Amino acid sequence: MQFSRPILVTGGAGFIGSHLVRLLVNKYPTYRIINLDKLTYAGNLENLRDVEEAHNYLFVKGDIVDHELVRQLFEEHGLDTVVHLAAESHVDRSIDNPMAFIQTNIVGTVSLLNAARAAWEAPEGKLFYHVSTDEVYGSLGETGFFTEKTPYDPRSPYSASKASSDHLVRAYYHTYGLPVVISNCSNNYGPYQFPEKLIPLMINNIRHSKPLPVYGDGSNVRDWLWVEDHARAIDLILHRGRLGETYNIGGDNEWRNIDLVRSLCRVMDELLDRPAGTSEQLITFVKDRPGHDQRYAIDAGKLKAELGWEPSVQAEEGLRKTAAWYLSHTDWLDHVTSGAYQDYYRLHYEAGAKGL
Ligand code: NAD
Ligand code: DAU
Repeated sequence: MQFSRPILVTGGAGFIGSHLVRLLVNKYPTYRIINLDKLTYAGNLENLRDVEEAHNYLFVKGDIVDHELVRQLFEEHGLDTVVHLAAESHVDRSIDNPMAFIQTNIVGTVSLLNAARAAWEAPEGKLFYHVSTDEVYGSLGETGFFTEKTPYDPRSPYSASKASSDHLVRAYYHTYGLPVVISNCSNNYGPYQFPEKLIPLMINNIRHSKPLPVYGDGSNVRDWLWVEDHARAIDLILHRGRLGETYNIGGDNEWRNIDLVRSLCRVMDELLDRPAGTSEQLITFVKDRPGHDQRYAIDAGKLKAELGWEPSVQAEEGLRKTAAWYLSHTDWLDHVTSGAYQDYYRLHYEAGAKGL
């Protein structure tokens, strides 16, 4: 079959990437969706079980830092679009080991940019879409919102590496005329998030009646974006975003960490049929994260006005949907926390049955 648009999605076996791959594969049967993922601890092909047989989907195991592999993918598939999500994504890990973040998030991004630049003689019909984070803007006080014009002020090795990659993507736009677009979004939540991040970690710990570690006094604020709303926003920007522009994506859904955890405790008590107040007793205040950003909040007005996007899930409804999903996918939780998810790749892919 001749495909109308060959798209490389990097990091498609991760949390957000798997939602995006699913959306693109199902919504655009004439597009070819090629998922390049290294399958780090955060990449899990079980996330994509429902689309792996689709005629327009291909998985390639590999590292974005491997420039020769990336070059070959451009050549072999005539790629005209890259949606770049592959990254080391967890702030606490970046504090322990910054170098992995420099490699993947900075060097890996440049490897992709160079391959696109070499393959694309003219910018027409081409797009390099870089998925980034609101953390590049730094930390807010009690009021105000990040806009696309907020100066960069990253404060963790993770956010500094993402800021660096954003700058490089913009530099390739200005210097070489590479057709790029960037989006910066707030904290995603929903199904398939690795249980090191706040919400699935708390759900899994409540499930096992383990302590719920709240950093500092729990007053830090995050804006929570339903992951499928994010994938919808990426779809819109991919098709209608203006080249060289940045779009902020947020959930209009701010919570103090402690309020979110308490609310999750109430939902989990209900879903697990435990007496009210049981889970809240597990809350334990622990040493704060070094350099912990106080508050993130997004003004997504540009995306709403230009492309008509709105978040669809908010407040406790999102927490309830998320908790219910994890409780009905305890196999998934057990696989990713035990490392058993790697068996899926070995059984289904390594024998050469699928993918490269
Ligand atoms: P994730 O950690 O769940 O997934 C990352 C994926 O990238 C994994 O599948 C992993 O195997 C893959 N990967 C890592 N290094 C790679 C490499 N060198 N080569 C190829 N693949 C590699 O991350 P996520 O939460 O889905 O985030 C996706 C993107 O969105 C990231 O760029 C992140 O910075 C950005 N982002 C995430 C959030 C969030 O709340 N999760 C918010 C804003 C922005
Ligand atoms: O804002 C977007 C960013 O959101 C993304 O770019 C990152 O990839 C993503 O990991 C996320 O970063 P955060 O550091 O905000 O997410 P995390 O889930 O690690 O933490 C959310 C908040 O909860 C933060 O204030 C720290 C706190 N926290 C986190 C954990 C893991 C706790 O209090 N206890 C915990 O055990």
